[in-house]
Amino acid sequence: MTVTAKPVNTFTTAIGLIARLLPLPFAFVAFSWFVFTLHARDAYYTVLALLLPKRRVGRVIKKGDPGFDGMWPQYCAPREGDSRSPCPGLNVLANHGILPRNGKNISYKEMSLAIQKAFNLSPTLGDQLTSSAFLVDQGRGRIDLYDLNALGIVQHDASLTRHDIAFVADQGAPDSFLVNRFVEHATHSKNNRRRFSLGDMAYYNGLRRAECRDSNGQYSMVYSFFHKFFGSGNCALLYSIFDGDAEDLKVFLEEERFPHGWEPKVRSAHGHPILFAQITTLMVEFNTHEGQKLRPGDQFFNQRLLKLKSK
Ligand code: HEM
Repeated sequence: MTVTAKPVNTFTTAIGLIARLLPLPFAFVAFSWFVFTLHARDAYYTVLALLLPKRRVGRVIKKGDPGFDGMWPQYCAPREGDSRSPCPGLNVLANHGILPRNGKNISYKEMSLAIQKAFNLSPTLGDQLTSSAFLVDQGRGRIDLYDLNALGIVQHDASLTRHDIAFVADQGAPDSFLVNRFVEHATHSKNNRRRFSLGDMAYYNGLRRAECRDSNGQYSMVYSFFHKFFGSGNCALLYSIFDGDAEDLKVFLEEERFPHGWEPKVRSAHGHPILFAQITTLMVEFNTHEGQKLRPGDQFFNQRLLKLKSK
């Protein structure tokens, strides 16, 4: 059977161009509307957070929700075939069975509600974080956690707990060396517990960017303000939700489980709003400097050694 190719000429090219441009204004309006309504709703939660008394220590998780009274559902490490993401926050929820333990076929609503309850986030911050998964779902409305591995959508280089994807293809598990080195950078203390200051977070963020850029020929963060912002946003979440507590962060990041009896340290009555998270994010981002002087004992980790080891 002979197959005749469709004609290609100026007219067909113009039609193709129009077909691609037409949806753009609709997408732009839909996106702007989402951002506008999200922030309008967030203004409400910010006012509540400023005016209402905070939840009591020991009672941050509501009665009936997983984690009430420090009782988290049983932790099980991921098994062969389970789907895990580059995000410790979501992996922890799957490891405790608050999200499906196999990490598969999770809807946005399920994710948003789960993170709101477990970390005491406002519905708006829950929806904003969840919306970052929209770009990987291919229109299905559900994702497997592993889908979040896609580089350059939300996942980026210079993470705190994972080597760059150019060297470690599966971003679903933390690297113990990186977690321990991160935790060692907490220089402050509160109630006899070591904790991160915002300065510690910004310093380590800068160190990771500089060393990953130095050793990764495919480094993708140089001109991406958004991904830098996401990275600083993650530092800000750890700082606020854990009050920078280094021991709790070690358990959370290395084992991807909740420490025994843990509860979120953000205590706003209706959850931590986007505005608070954004302010902390900007404080981390604009104090992150790749060219900073290294602290004594610090040196760049050379990711190329990982490649050599695995050959
Ligand atoms: C449904 C909501 C969420 C989605 C879709 C999501 C997605 C992601 C993705 C794709 C990454 C990888 C970024 C990278 O390459 O470093 C990431 C990292 C991270 N996420 Fe989430 N996340 C969500 C909620 C949360 C929550 C509630 C927390 C609270 C603790 C959290 C904490 C973190 C942290 C600390 C990292 C950085 C890990 C690292 O740098 O090694 N995330 N998240």
